[in-house]
Amino acid sequence: MTTILGIETSCDETAAAVVVDGHQVLANVVSSQVDLHARYGGVVPEIAGRAHESLLTPVIAEAMVEAGVNDGDIDAVAATHGPGLIGSLLIGVSAAKALALGWDVPFVGINHHEAHLYAALLEEPELEFPLVVMLVSGGHTMLIEFQDHGQYRLLGATVDDAAGEAFDKVARYLGLGYPGGPAIDNLSQTGDSAAITFTPPMRNEGLNFSFSGLKTAVVNHVRQDPDVDTADVAASFQAAVVDVLTHKVRLAARRVGAKGICLAGGVAANSELRERTLDICVEDGIQGFLPSRAMCTDNAAMVAATAWWRLRSDGASPLDLGANPNLRLPFIDS
Ligand code: KG4
Ligand code: ZN
Repeated sequence: MTTILGIETSCDETAAAVVVDGHQVLANVVSSQVDLHARYGGVVPEIAGRAHESLLTPVIAEAMVEAGVNDGDIDAVAATHGPGLIGSLLIGVSAAKALALGWDVPFVGINHHEAHLYAALLEEPELEFPLVVMLVSGGHTMLIEFQDHGQYRLLGATVDDAAGEAFDKVARYLGLGYPGGPAIDNLSQTGDSAAITFTPPMRNEGLNFSFSGLKTAVVNHVRQDPDVDTADVAASFQAAVVDVLTHKVRLAARRVGAKGICLAGGVAANSELRERTLDICVEDGIQGFLPSRAMCTDNAAMVAATAWWRLRSDGASPLDLGANPNLRLPFIDS
């Protein structure tokens, strides 16, 4: 039995979790800074770094108490070391190294994207490979073939804005506040998704995505028709995003003969995307796995779960491993 303390501070969530053997979550504490950043309409790196500094120790303490574990019960300490905001990453990495050193246990540096991929396996350890994982967050939109543990192939990515960024920008333009995804998701429930036809660029061109033109299309539409119902705009925009995402994840799954599709990242919390993805999986006779909403957004349980696999395959990370804001997943060549 291996008990891992995971730490996540790559962006604006300060999180700590205690996970046994990569899937048994004893505690998963997330302190969101969303209220601190809301008035600026996005994450302010300096504010995020300072907030992590004051929040991380109590968040770790809370996770340990909730898990019912003491210092001596922890077998390894893991932290996200990239990609993300450098000032934020450094807080988590330094804390994890200090604790690992003090407790004389291994330190494991984790790639944030890999952690999102493992969020699905954490809740559903029986998932069969190959899987296609669609990682859709505020910073990334990637279609990844998850061939086996540690083996990933990039099938497609956004050429401009990330899907979550498009939600956030459109929501800001429509005056719906920050973060935009949940606001658009909620408002769309009362809107007519067929009211306006928005077509995302590159809809029929391979597995890459483009969202910035879609944002401009929304802005142009509202400028031309200022009295348009905001709920209809939100629902029509969301329908276009969900349409292109599900169309391409289906293509990707067919292309690689995937046994299943998983969603990951904050946008995977979107109700319509979740519903449509499951429809596709049923239609194509493959597994569909949607992590719980808590596991879609940034959390430390996915970091501890990934660390369990990484520790077994690569061993501990060196204590001079740095935080890397531009860390990439080691993709297999296509
Ligand atoms: O993965 P995440 O928590 O943070 C990173 O970007 O790494 O994702 C946050 C993004 C934001 O852009 C937010 O607007 C979006 O996920 N999001 C959603 C929903 N909930 C969060 N987008 C659409 N629908 C949602 N329900
Ligand atoms: Zn994330």
